[in-house]
Amino acid sequence: MSKVDVLLGLQWGDEGKGKIVDVLAPKYDVVARFQGGPNAGHTLEFDGIKHVLHQIPSGIFREKTKNVIGNGVVLDPIVFRTEIEKLQKFNLNIKGNLFISKKATLILPTHRLLDQAQEKAKGDNKIGSTLKGIGPTYQDKIGRQGLRVGDILSENFIEKFKKLTGIHFNILKDHDIQYNWPELEKQFLDAVHFLKEFKLIESEYFLNNELKKGSSILAEGAQGSLLDIDFGSYPFVTSSNTVSAGACTGLGIAPRNIGEVYGIFKAYSTRVGSGPFPTELLDEQGELMRKQGNEFGSTTGRPRRCGWIDLPSLKYSIMINGVTQLLMMKADVLNIFPTIKVCTKYQLRDGSVTDMLPYELVNEKITPIYTELKGWNASLSDISDISMPAELSQYIDYLQAELGVPITLISTGPDRTQTVYRQAINV
Ligand code: GDP
Ligand code: IMO
Ligand code: MG
Repeated sequence: MSKVDVLLGLQWGDEGKGKIVDVLAPKYDVVARFQGGPNAGHTLEFDGIKHVLHQIPSGIFREKTKNVIGNGVVLDPIVFRTEIEKLQKFNLNIKGNLFISKKATLILPTHRLLDQAQEKAKGDNKIGSTLKGIGPTYQDKIGRQGLRVGDILSENFIEKFKKLTGIHFNILKDHDIQYNWPELEKQFLDAVHFLKEFKLIESEYFLNNELKKGSSILAEGAQGSLLDIDFGSYPFVTSSNTVSAGACTGLGIAPRNIGEVYGIFKAYSTRVGSGPFPTELLDEQGELMRKQGNEFGSTTGRPRRCGWIDLPSLKYSIMINGVTQLLMMKADVLNIFPTIKVCTKYQLRDGSVTDMLPYELVNEKITPIYTELKGWNASLSDISDISMPAELSQYIDYLQAELGVPITLISTGPDRTQTVYRQAINV
């Protein structure tokens, strides 16, 4: 029996998961998304074209890879239809290679309206949600009243839909949210019709059968560990388990069938939306990082907050996920920085120093303690592991020693080809 490898972000999302899943996909028979939904924006670049995927797994461009949307995902049929239509001109075998769990939960247009209403009601404490309906849809799932993909095949789907939207309208009437329901309803029901043409399956059987056959499976995380509903900077988090354990519940894979856990991180940090960010740079250096890294949200276009790398939070993510290999992204963004700072510890309000994340992360005043390393001040186009600038090697060696997990891959640009293996990744 083979194993499921898991690839996930160790920071606040947007680490470059889409690029690396696309790079690794030829090694895998199956790529599967296990949580999140259209709040994700996973960017892939090759042949001079940039693609952003929201719900479709990032193995879709590889002819031989099967792609699964697992039961832990929340799926918006309208977004799904738009995504598929955008891909149509690339002549991919999507109908043959895409499998959708009947147990994935449906995002209804009213979930998006509720997301807006909830954010508005929070005023200054808003989460900075992508407003894709993620929170309200997971609320309905946990509240045992959600609709699932499999329900669209049932005769009384419209009845179920009307019942749930009725509950939502009752809540919405107390909020000042404008919408044109007949239009939204039509758009949704048309998209549901479209969704019926795809392979709607019991994905837990499908995936476990693939394992029995010896197929290799890569689980593709969305968001990042610091946005996890249990372990992230609550309440400034998303509504799913983004950590490796989420791959078990989100796909129906037993814990003992998890193999490698690839942890992806940027050579610095970013965050989009509200919430604590200890190493955030609010000065021109942060501005420079944003410019160099083109740090604008793939889903919402919002500018991402930028700052130095944060070892206490990375160590925490590595611990929770059981990371076996680290992949460092966007090294090239630091090319022009003469000095690179690394946060090694936090000083708390009472003067104590720690390398642990305090429970009161949201209300605690954290002062990062930095170590400085010399920058490489060189372009990274055309580098290999052997020709790497000495200062970049030192940076990688330093991080690896601090984090205690091998850094096996370095990404030096958005394109598929801008990838340097420090160690072969064998599947
Ligand atoms: P994801 O959500 O984790 O898939 O990441 P996003 O796609 O939201 O954000 C990552 C952004 O960085 C995208 O625009 C990628 O094209 C880009 N990117 C990925 N790897 C690199 C890299 O090594 N260098 C640079 N400069 N950009 C990269
Ligand atoms: P990928 O998969 C970065 C953030 C939002 C907000 C919080 C809650 O591309 O890395 P939600 O819409 O889930 O209710 O928003 O989480 N967020 C992300 N940030 N990357 C993502 O996905 C994100 N998905 C959600 O900005 O702060
Ligand atoms: Mg993203």
